[in-house]
Formats: sequence, C-alpha cells, structure tokens
Amino acid sequence: MPAVSFQQVGKTYNGARGSFRALDGVSFDIGEGEFFGLLGPNGAGKTTLISVLAGLTRATEGRVTVMGHDVQADAAAARKALGIVPQELVFDPFFSVRETLRIQSGYFGVKGNDAWIDEVLAELGLADKANANMRQLSGGMKRRVLVAQALVHKPPVIVLDEPTAGVDVELRQTLWAFIGRLNKQGHTVLLTTHYLEEAEALCHRIGMLKQGRLVALERTATLLSATHSTMLRFKTDQALPAALAAQARSTGRIVQLRARDAAEVESFLATLRGAGVGVEDLEIGRADLEDVFVQIMQGRSPVAAPAQGVGASA
Ligand SMILES: Nc1ncnc2c1ncn2[C@@H]1O[C@H](COP(=O)(O)OP(=O)(O)O)[C@@H](O)[C@H]1O
Ligand SMILES: [Mg+2]
Repeated sequence: MPAVSFQQVGKTYNGARGSFRALDGVSFDIGEGEFFGLLGPNGAGKTTLISVLAGLTRATEGRVTVMGHDVQADAAAARKALGIVPQELVFDPFFSVRETLRIQSGYFGVKGNDAWIDEVLAELGLADKANANMRQLSGGMKRRVLVAQALVHKPPVIVLDEPTAGVDVELRQTLWAFIGRLNKQGHTVLLTTHYLEEAEALCHRIGMLKQGRLVALERTATLLSATHSTMLRFKTDQALPAALAAQARSTGRIVQLRARDAAEVESFLATLRGAGVGVEDLEIGRADLEDVFVQIMQGRSPVAAPAQGVGASA
C-alpha cells in the first residue's frame, strides 16, 4: 500500500473572472518511508495538491488516499495520518508554544503527550520558548512551532510546503536533521521546495509540476545521471553557428551547452573557433538538478515525461 496515492487528480477553481485549471490529471504514488520532493515554479499547483491531500480543498476529479484512507470518504482517518506544515504562518497569538502544541494534540485525541512535546521542542531548538506567547516569537521561531504542531500526533506521513522559504541556515539544518531522522525511522515525507539543492540532497524521488500537470517523475539519482554530463558555459556577443544554436540555452550574452563527454566539448570549441565566434569567461562544469529542472520546464528534457495517468511507485 502506498503512503499517498494521487489518482487522476484535477482541480478547477471557479471565480468571478472565469475558471482556472490548477491541477490536471495528476497521478503518482509515494511509497511508505519515501522522502519525496515535489518541485515546480510558483503557481504550478503544489499548494493546491497539498490542500487536496489535507482535505482543505475538494478535488474536481480524481481520488487521493493517505495510508489507504480516502481523503473525502474517510477524511478523519486520512487527516490523522498526516502532519502538515503549511506554507502560510497561521496561529492563535494568545496561546503559549506549549499550549498551542497541547491543543493540537487534543484535536487529534492524543492524551498525556508532554514527553513527546518536550522532545519535539528540544529537537527544533524551541525548548526555551515553551512558555513564550506565540505573538512574541520571530518569524523563524513561528515556523519551528508550525513544524512542531504538525508532528504532535506522530503522523506516519509528514508534508512540508516550502518550509524553508525565507528561513535562516540554522533552522534549515535543524529542520533537515530532525526530519531526516524521522524519515529513517519510517515516516514518509512529502516536501515542496524552491531550493533545488535541498531536493537533491534529501529526496529519494522527485516529481515536477508545471501548470498543473506532472511533467517529470523520477528517482533523484536518475534525474541527476541524465545530467552526468558536462556543462560548457561562456559569454559571447556573436551569433552561434546553427548547429550549436539549436542545442544551446542562452540568457542574454551567457550561453550554456550540454556536452556528453570531453570529446564533445572539444568539438563544440572547434565549431565555435571555425565560425570565428569569440568566447569570454569560459567555464566547464557538471550539470545539476537546476539544469534538469530548467530543461524540463522548457520542455527540453533528457528525461521522458511520465505518461498521463501512469503512477510509479518507489
Ligand atoms: N482559491 C483559489 N482560487 C482561484 N485560484 C487559485 C486559488 N488558489 C490557487 N489558485 C491558483 O492556482 C494556481 C496554483 O496555485 P498554487 O497551488 O498555490 O501553486 P504553487 O503552490 O505551486 O505556487 C495559481 O495560478 C493560483 O493563482
Ligand atoms: Mg505554494
């Protein structure tokens, strides 16, 4: 049984200015114990997909299950299996940190939870803030409480929606050390992030959303091995010869060319020299997840897009 299963999920928002298709035929499974990364530019539908998973938004089509529980038909059981760290900071400012966590425990029917609450507070560097009121905390500290709140009932599936957007390096490290340990203990993690290096370091598998559609679904290692190629970067003021222009990624004067191996790098340089194109600031480096991401978003991926409706497991 997958920890999370999205089956042909579609979502159309209907508003005063017409309807908007935020999700379209999204299907994939997340295996139990997997650390899964959901990437995509702003507006791709990541938060909408998580809202559907959390039962906060109703999908227009399709079906979603969490640990086998349908998020609509079996909403309470599905919700209890999830710990969700939302993208937006929302709190009752009048409670202390400990009260906030006790109330959340009560909401899930968990009693006598103080030992676990203390452990979570310590792990997240919040132990000395337990009695502080929520309104006294900095943004970074509030973010930590949001994480603690998601974990009070020890959910098997932990969902983090851009948890590190705008947070300091220390919190990122604290958070990833803790979430990494929970994942090793068997918790499934679904993470959305803008930080591709984070996804590269943490996630076993990655799905990429673009305009509401799943455009890539691969093991992180496979995505990266598709780019175990060399990236040639340089600046030029001149037009590239047609043979190179077709495969180059150009941003203003900056040109990037992907090469399979050293011999191809040499052949690119010979072609440039032959065409009399002058290059400056020549660099040769490894491609990374960011290169894959840009290529997939431009529809020029070396990795095949998943067929619509086919979900793959770990
Ligand atoms: N309640 C809503 N009503 C109408 N449109 C919405 C609503 N929520 C989100 N959208 C639109 O759906 C698209 C996907 O948004 P979202 O899921 O927040 O993307 P992401 O989290 O990937 O940035 C965006 O174009 C957004 O403007
Ligand atoms: Mg979002």
